[in-house]
Amino acid sequence: MINTSLPIVPQDSTDQREVFATALVRQAPLPERLNTVLLEMEKVARDEGIPVIGRLEGAIVRTLTALRGDSVTRVLDLGTAIGYSALWLAYALPEGGKVTSIELDPERAARAADFIDRAGMADRIEILVGDAFELVPELGTYDLIFQDIMKHRYFGSDPSLATELLKLSKAHLEVNGLLMIDNAFCGGGVVAGETAEHSNELVGVRNMNTALAEDPDFDGVILPVRDGLWVARRTA
Ligand SMILES: C[S@@+](CC[C@H](N)C(=O)[O-])C[C@H]1O[C@@H](n2cnc3c(N)ncnc32)[C@H](O)[C@@H]1O
Repeated sequence: MINTSLPIVPQDSTDQREVFATALVRQAPLPERLNTVLLEMEKVARDEGIPVIGRLEGAIVRTLTALRGDSVTRVLDLGTAIGYSALWLAYALPEGGKVTSIELDPERAARAADFIDRAGMADRIEILVGDAFELVPELGTYDLIFQDIMKHRYFGSDPSLATELLKLSKAHLEVNGLLMIDNAFCGGGVVAGETAEHSNELVGVRNMNTALAEDPDFDGVILPVRDGLWVARRTA
């Protein structure tokens, strides 16, 4: 019997199919130390309204990261927050794999470092504090990039930022590498079409979605879970 009454973080959908899938994910065995910290982070996210990807998307990201086995060792996580997505990514990696995670807010980065340490993942995750637009150009290339800083709070000022970040990620992604981008539906706004308010954020995410869909160097699709998760392989 699946228990669907267990709490999910508020960022998780109330869609019953997603609630059911989340409950199933919760049945899956995880190392106790990791799961204890993930549960605590979900409570912190719920209590403080920190937008983490949540259990369902965490499990999706973990599964997709692990698909290519030992060939994925270098992962870039854009938008650490308190380290929740970084933990799912790191857990998916083989021995010797490493996640580089970038966070603008030093206080959040410090909290992330503490959670990551307590989860026993400090040797697999490096946190860089600063603006991804400034730090990423200094970095190398990656087998997988998870982009999760595309929220109105950060990108509302300039509609070109979403497409700029896509270009930056592409430049640092290996051919055959996987790009995942959260919030492709921009809170549902892009799906609402003409009736939606044409905010900078919405225009930016729409343009970014079109640019990625039309890019001949990517093969991808938006998974319509939660707020839409882009999953795209760089083909050339
Ligand atoms: C949605 S949260 C990330 C959640 C995280 N991926 C998770 O699921 O655990 C977005 C984070 O991106 C950070 N951020 C916003 N703009 C940024 C930038 N230009 N460079 C680096 N981090 C940024 C914010 O401070 C925020 O903590």
